[in-house]
Amino acid sequence: ASLRLVLFGPPGAGKGTQAQLLTDCYHLAHVSSGDIFRHNLRQGTPLGLRAKEYMDRGELVPDEVVIDIMLDKILSIPSEDGFILDGFPRNTWQAEQLESALTAGSRAVDRVLHIDVAEEELARRLGGRFVCRECQAPYTHLGGAPAPNCERCNGELYQRDDDRPEAVQKRINVYREETTPVLAFYRDRGLLVDIPGQEAVDGVFKHIVEAL
Ligand code: AP5
Repeated sequence: ASLRLVLFGPPGAGKGTQAQLLTDCYHLAHVSSGDIFRHNLRQGTPLGLRAKEYMDRGELVPDEVVIDIMLDKILSIPSEDGFILDGFPRNTWQAEQLESALTAGSRAVDRVLHIDVAEEELARRLGGRFVCRECQAPYTHLGGAPAPNCERCNGELYQRDDDRPEAVQKRINVYREETTPVLAFYRDRGLLVDIPGQEAVDGVFKHIVEAL
């Protein structure tokens, strides 16, 4: 049967990294709220411009901007196909809206994978992160030399505006205050699995595969 997963965790936990490995391995649709906003921004849509104001400050984009676009995207996935949600839901209200929308379509989330990483490590990873402009694959690049091109598609690598140290700290605080309550929501439903996220990428992936 197809898997319907939520990848959950603080900024820099490795959600995007693991989502890519999971989609390659299990052929799931990858729905990343952050990627959708950044894509809209590149196209200059009103949604992208509105989201950017909040993203650059490290704050959550308001629920009314997020909810329709995310639910439309998720509900447009054929019901026999699996998916991975990355970056959504990010507060309890979004989790409730997702649950009712999926229930109405006779679907449900199978597992919520909580990638757990200490705050010092998050700041270290995001400070050295470069992302592909084309396929959004993330890389860590430390040191002064210019970042190379993407290993997957040869696209140009860039640093995100919200990976400045002040924005990173704000994102971590917002995660702690507004997003962690979602863990209890899914724990109560018996869906939450804690994944140790401090190991190397392959080690974390192994833990995820074991949990599925
Ligand atoms: P979003 O794009 O979702 O960003 P995020 O949650 O802050 O997560 P990141 O993309 O920063 O990190 P990640 O966990 O994917 O880590 P990655 O794999 O890249 O959201 C951005 C903004 O959009 C939000 O701040 C908000 O404003 C808005 N937004 C989005 N969704 C919203 C919603 N639902 N409601 C309201 N607002 C919303 O890895 C990080 C780095 O570490 C990379 O360099 C990677 O190479 C490296 N790395 C990964 N794994 C490992 C490992 N195991 N060991 C060492 N390095 C590793």
